[in-house]
Amino acid sequence: MEHSPFDEPQLTLLGLGAMGTALARAWLASGYSPTVWNRTAGRAEPLAAEGAMVAGTAAEAVAASDLVVVCLLDDASVDEALADTDLTGKDLVNLTTSTPTQARARADWARERGARFLDGGIMAVPPMIGAPDSGGYVFYSGSRALFDTHHDALAVPAGTTYVGADPGFAALHDVALLSAMTGMFAGASHAFALIRKEDVAPKDIAPLLVSWLTAMAPFAYEIADHLESGDYTRGVTSNLAMMVEGNSTLLRTAEEQGVSAELLTPYMALMERRLADGHGDEGTTGVIDLLTR
Ligand SMILES: NC(=O)c1ccc[n+]([C@@H]2O[C@H](COP(=O)([O-])OP(=O)(O)OC[C@H]3O[C@@H](n4cnc5c(N)ncnc54)[C@H](OP(=O)(O)O)[C@@H]3O)[C@@H](O)[C@H]2O)c1
Repeated sequence: MEHSPFDEPQLTLLGLGAMGTALARAWLASGYSPTVWNRTAGRAEPLAAEGAMVAGTAAEAVAASDLVVVCLLDDASVDEALADTDLTGKDLVNLTTSTPTQARARADWARERGARFLDGGIMAVPPMIGAPDSGGYVFYSGSRALFDTHHDALAVPAGTTYVGADPGFAALHDVALLSAMTGMFAGASHAFALIRKEDVAPKDIAPLLVSWLTAMAPFAYEIADHLESGDYTRGVTSNLAMMVEGNSTLLRTAEEQGVSAELLTPYMALMERRLADGHGDEGTTGVIDLLTR
């Protein structure tokens, strides 16, 4: 039988920034025939040469496929790009990073326009897209039926993790992990600042940081156990009283090294408040209560 482009699975992708381009290339490499659109048309040219069909307008792109994937800068750009499109009967997957509230509002917005909706939070950087062993994946939430219908296509660029029918949950999980990463980056910045003026090579510190942070990461299981049991002392091996005492050594070392401790002190202040409330035998879980009050 003669091969026609219509034998290839179709989908539409709006947005060809760094991430959108990586997504498009992953689908092209897997035999998909994506219709692509980008506000700045020139960004679609290399993909046209690689086999993508390029739409002149967002409305034409949306009309071309049942599955419409959006990966734009932010929620406002999704509004702009989709303003003049007909979403009736479409399956809309929004991979644009958003807040949980924005994702829930977008789900209502899509439903009012006759579309099924799935929100996605991408836990990957562009080089991890279409690289099966990279560990990259996407959190999805919203329509389970949409997720199941298009799972084969969605699984091409990265792993898929469905986290619930609430359309805000993908963004919530995404932002929770990114927030933890931000704290880790802050801690690593402080560590490098401490050695900056000494005869210690950053490249020698880097592997030590990676193995220490990796060894410490499972503390998250202890916190989860504390939050679920309500017993914040269960299995604690390093208690808050000891850690607050240790903080003074961290602060004094920062001073000796001429390093600002501003990345550490907000967290230390919360530890001290929890200790002052009489919880020296806990770990650090009680800090979460102070944050969520
Ligand atoms: N890059 C990453 O490492 C990464 C990782 C995880 C998640 N993400 C998420 O993926 C999404 C896209 O990121 P990216 O890296 O591809 O960003 P990017 O390279 O800056 O590209 C932004 C895209 O949004 C389009 N855009 C911006 N404002 C627009 C508007 N008002 N109307 C229509 N299109 C508009 C741009 O079009 P023009 O070309 O016309 O400017 C471009 O296609 C973001 O939500 C980001 O948070 C990115």
